[in-house]
Amino acid sequence: AMGMKGMFVVHPKDPDFMRVDRDFLIMLNAFDIDPGTYNIDPALIEAAITDRTRAIMPIHLYGQMADMDPIMAIAGANSLAVIEDACQSITSTYKDRKAGSVGTAGCLSFFPSKNLGGIGDGGMVVTNDEKLYDQLILMRNHGCEQMYYHKKIGGNFRLDPIQAAALLVKLPLLDKWSAGRRKNAEYYNKKFKGSVVVPPVVREDCVSIYNQYIIRVPKRDELLAHLRANDIGCAIYYPVPLHLQECFGDLGYKKGDMPHAEKAAEEVIALPVYPELTNKMQDYVVETALSFLQE
Ligand SMILES: Cc1ncc(COP(=O)(O)O)c(C=O)c1O
Repeated sequence: AMGMKGMFVVHPKDPDFMRVDRDFLIMLNAFDIDPGTYNIDPALIEAAITDRTRAIMPIHLYGQMADMDPIMAIAGANSLAVIEDACQSITSTYKDRKAGSVGTAGCLSFFPSKNLGGIGDGGMVVTNDEKLYDQLILMRNHGCEQMYYHKKIGGNFRLDPIQAAALLVKLPLLDKWSAGRRKNAEYYNKKFKGSVVVPPVVREDCVSIYNQYIIRVPKRDELLAHLRANDIGCAIYYPVPLHLQECFGDLGYKKGDMPHAEKAAEEVIALPVYPELTNKMQDYVVETALSFLQE
């Protein structure tokens, strides 16, 4: 919709290395993360911009928004769009502004594991830009404004009515659920204080919706197995950083290029934080984790 087919969003390497023959945008997190919040580090953006860059795409990871003010300033200075990936952060805020409402466009996911999850796949793009809105509406429906008259090559990106119906039932409960997650996160933070567990870092100007409660621990893989053996649901978000994914192998990145992202991939683990969790259940999680880690 933004006319960027074949363009790269960010890529720090020599432009000759870029592949422009792909149909899809390559949206590669081509520089390292902020190791505290795991979000994009604005200090590293400028060096990654080339003459082919058209957009910055901050991912608001784990429920917390990226540091948007410097991102918007860099985008403005370089005439770039900002596409916020707010899939894990619906209704979270940065300086009282909601995820997805700061940049040119925001993307939401209604995948069932999200804070506002459907009963199957679904998603939404939000924007205040009317021209972009018109393009998105067109492309959502095979490029048609009038049925069977195709202005553009689009696709079927419509939200199923069954998903919309389920989401409408859940939407009024979203704020309550997010508050429940925040309360559970605070309880974990208190319980882990003074231990080897590194709790999530939430900036003072941000409100997180804790799509995940992510801690850093030593012996992470062993802890994962131990928690699972004790019937505690937990997961690794994410075991392989983007630049080391097989599908991007041809882009020439190697281990060591992004040490913060690589270290996070080895140390992070997500604990259950869903709103219905009771303090007693959380005590069990904390005791099971700490007794193992302190062995
Ligand atoms: C940060 C982020 N971006 C994008 C997506 C993709 O969303 P969907 O699965 O709805 O396409 C996800 C979902 O897992 C996500 O967590």
